[in-house]
Amino acid sequence: MNTKEVVLKALALKKCIPAFNVPHTPMVKPIAEAIRDENSVAMIQVARVEWEKMGAISMERSAEEYAKYANAHTLLHLDHIPVIDEDFKRVDYLSLIERAIRAGFQSVMIDGSRLPLEENIAVTAEVAARAHAAGIPCEAELGAVMGHEAEVPPYEEIFAKKMGFTKLDEATRFAKESGCDWLSVAVGNIHGAVAEAVRNQKKPEAKLDVAHIADLSRVTGIPLVLHGGSGVNHQCLLDAIGAGIAKINVGTELRQTYEAALAASNGDIEAARDALYRRTRDYIHNYLYNGDLMDAISK
Ligand code: 13P
Repeated sequence: MNTKEVVLKALALKKCIPAFNVPHTPMVKPIAEAIRDENSVAMIQVARVEWEKMGAISMERSAEEYAKYANAHTLLHLDHIPVIDEDFKRVDYLSLIERAIRAGFQSVMIDGSRLPLEENIAVTAEVAARAHAAGIPCEAELGAVMGHEAEVPPYEEIFAKKMGFTKLDEATRFAKESGCDWLSVAVGNIHGAVAEAVRNQKKPEAKLDVAHIADLSRVTGIPLVLHGGSGVNHQCLLDAIGAGIAKINVGTELRQTYEAALAASNGDIEAARDALYRRTRDYIHNYLYNGDLMDAISK
């Protein structure tokens, strides 16, 4: 499958490609099997924060695990490579992107969202050019999808004040000048917490500004990505997909399922994998209605 074409096809069909995070390497197998058994199409992805602060070990280790269980329904994506990370430290993003290309990732994300607009455009253009030279698409982020930082305002305040929401004029310019293939937008979505003290808390149910998504889709003309896909209000999510969201990132929900099952079974990885397999199928089938997406995409 060609990753860029798959996401464009999903957009045209008003469907959306789930991208499941694997913060623990044993999560790869049940997720890959669930995607296959739903006859769906989905990405398996790992972000820098997941090997720095969780159990993913390294991007290369994640790619090796992926290679063991990859099937005709799966794609491998590199999630969040921040230029400035959640602890506000500068990251050597280009060497991480180079490593991902060597390790066989089929698409990459550069997250310059903590930079001023001009710098975000410049960094994204640099990474997009590098990704395109390697024949793979590049995702970028504009606006602030909060949640990974240690301190985050209450969700209701974020939504009511539209804090960090992606601006239409900036998105118009960003899509034209950065060369990114997909744009992650801030439209009421938030990331599940990654800070150790709070990462097991239940996420607040996020609402989405669907009219704003439709406007962003119109002005950018490229597939939009919804980060923070765990625990989004179901109707909002379905409407958002109709409005231009073509990729959705899902992390917390599956991580918490896996970790809870691991704890409940005294560390039995197979029991935790089984719980994760069932939860992933349920998410694809009953939440995204993406069972049989493979047939629609291949037509
Ligand atoms: P959640 O953990 O909130 O599902 O978000 C995942 C994500 O957006 C990873 O990039």
